[in-house]
Amino acid sequence: MSRGNNSNYLVIALPSGKLFKPSIRLWERIGIDLMGGKEINRKLTFFDQREQIKFIITRPKDNPTYVECGAADIGIVGEDVLLEEKKDVYKLLDLKFGKCKIVVAVLEEEEQEKYYRNNGHRLRVATKYPRIAGGYFKEKGIYVELIKLYGSVELAPHVGLADMIVDIVSTGRTLQENKLKIIDEIVPLSAQLIVNRISYKTKHKRITNLLQEIKKIISLESDKIAEW
Ligand code: PRP
Repeated sequence: MSRGNNSNYLVIALPSGKLFKPSIRLWERIGIDLMGGKEINRKLTFFDQREQIKFIITRPKDNPTYVECGAADIGIVGEDVLLEEKKDVYKLLDLKFGKCKIVVAVLEEEEQEKYYRNNGHRLRVATKYPRIAGGYFKEKGIYVELIKLYGSVELAPHVGLADMIVDIVSTGRTLQENKLKIIDEIVPLSAQLIVNRISYKTKHKRITNLLQEIKKIISLESDKIAEW
């Protein structure tokens, strides 16, 4: 499965969505001019001839797939995707931006206790993260029915599709606007730098040099990187 990327270029996969802007910023801070991400956003690829780097842009959930199979050497990915998709990649570094958490939430007016009591009916949990949610409830010994959704999970308790949700919270605005409250926090998350296992051996020097540069920036920006 893992065949590495054989070209002289280092291929770096950036995720579209919320982590796109901070990812562009990271590379620009280490001196690679990505023109604010405008060109890559349009064409999905961007070559830096001087550094011999090819940047590609992927859907966030697809990012580790590109890295696992060696179509990209390096990727930037949300930890939620790594926990849910379980791809065979090396986690190189916590990038400290894109901080958020996975929580359990219910309608504001509901009593929290009822969800952890065995009340006879199997609780229905709507989520984009069945693996993470399933693991959490299994550990607690609570039998639930997982309802896999692809987005707008906050809607589910309001229309009787689910009793509760397991979802990502960043600013907390979406929960608040949808009158939901957190009853437990499952795991804190942030953006991660991942690498293909073969590339890490065959392009070791280039990757470790880049890694040092990135570590420097993260430590220099440590007080503001969470807001990138
Ligand atoms: C994520 C998550 C919440 C929202 C939380 O959804 O599933 O809905 O962001 O962010 P907040 O705490 O800052 O309000 P996303 O925007 O990725 O869209 P989706 O629901 O369509 O997946």
